[in-house]
Amino acid sequence: MDSILVTGNGPLSGQIPIAGAKNACLTLMPATLLSDEPLTLTNAPRLSDIRTMTLLLQSLGAEVQALNDGQVLALSSHALTSTRAEYDIVRKMRASILVLGPLLARHGEAQVSLPGGCAIGARPVDLHLRAMEALGAEMDLRDGYVHAKAPAGGLRGGVVRFPLVSVGATENALMAAVLARGTTVLENAAREPEIVDLAQCLRKMGARIEGEGTSRIEIEGVDRLGGATHRVVTDRIELGTYMLAPAICGGEVECLGGRIDLLQAFCEKLDEAGISVEETATGLKVARKNGRVRAVNVVTEPFPGFPTDLQAQMMALLCTAEGDSVLEEKIFENRFMHAPELMRMGARIDVHGGTARVRGVDALRGAPVMATDLRASVSLILAGLAAEGETVVSRVYHLDRGYEHVVRKLRGVGAKIERIKGE
Ligand code: EPZ
Repeated sequence: MDSILVTGNGPLSGQIPIAGAKNACLTLMPATLLSDEPLTLTNAPRLSDIRTMTLLLQSLGAEVQALNDGQVLALSSHALTSTRAEYDIVRKMRASILVLGPLLARHGEAQVSLPGGCAIGARPVDLHLRAMEALGAEMDLRDGYVHAKAPAGGLRGGVVRFPLVSVGATENALMAAVLARGTTVLENAAREPEIVDLAQCLRKMGARIEGEGTSRIEIEGVDRLGGATHRVVTDRIELGTYMLAPAICGGEVECLGGRIDLLQAFCEKLDEAGISVEETATGLKVARKNGRVRAVNVVTEPFPGFPTDLQAQMMALLCTAEGDSVLEEKIFENRFMHAPELMRMGARIDVHGGTARVRGVDALRGAPVMATDLRASVSLILAGLAAEGETVVSRVYHLDRGYEHVVRKLRGVGAKIERIKGE
């Protein structure tokens, strides 16, 4: 397994291009199952999760071609050969569950392996199943699979009330509803930019949707959908991650393609911590104002609150802040696994349940550390950029799931970082 060697060094400067959003692309790709006409996605990120979704769609009989070095995905599913999403693919990536809604809507049935848990929590899919039932589907759990069946006449519109905000369940319900007969209302829907992006793509395909980005989305079912070409929205989590590089190291970096509206709550926290964020014609310019980063308190919430996917990276910044910070993780039950690794670098962190208290230290010290999940892996790289000495991050396969060309992008702004080939 490969590892990444980071050597702490001074301020960074230059530009980092931000790619298309992994979590938008992973819900846009299954949308091809809703139509027999071609769907073309541009600004697609080059990530292992995208390759996994490609394999899953191909296993169903869809055609997926990666063009232009993977930045364009040409998809079509005019002749599906299966409605079964196998365990050996689903267990690698939870987002596989997002084929459930489209398969039910267009093909009337689906057999999708239960994803199983992952490092950050149990991550059940009960809200996905309840949403499908609200649209008339019968759901039967057996032998580790969800066996879903639409009524003879197809899914029918209904009211889907989410007891808690779920990004994936909102996406599944949205994709199921666009071909259901009649009107569907999603209440307490997730408001993430990735859902807005999905709705905009579905609308280009002929869907009738109103209210995306709010907690109430209304869908008027149509008989069929056409094809479309759609540009994947900028990845706000990659954006926030790279904004933290100059924050933790000092210097000034422009994140190309960055937009403040994607990360309002996060940018407000950076401002509170003494980091300046300036909108430019080509993105967001980030610099650490004079002196040390100030301690701030963070609570993760559904959009438009502070994103859980930036909690680990923010913790790395706060490890060297002046003062004590408290981070509350309200979305997942086990998302502090980066804390013990940061403590190996000299961070002072007390974790109790969903709350982590970070007492700022003057400097972190490089150490061998281990990535435990996607966002934790990049949090350790950020810490290594600011630490004295060398940090070796192992198990970087986590990183390849969600960050393209990390070494190249950080070297481009002066970081001392390299990838070491493992056996
Ligand atoms: C999406 O996961 C993202 N993944 C996650 O990003 C992100 O952290 C999460 O949304 C929250 O923003 C993709 O988009 C592929 P949820 P998702 O359903 O949809 C509970 C990353 O690093 N829940 O909004 O799975 C769940 O356990 C990944 O890129 C149920 O109880 O998240 C969690 O506690 C990590 N039952 C909470 O809701 C359900 O049926 C929010 O989960 C579904 C979810």
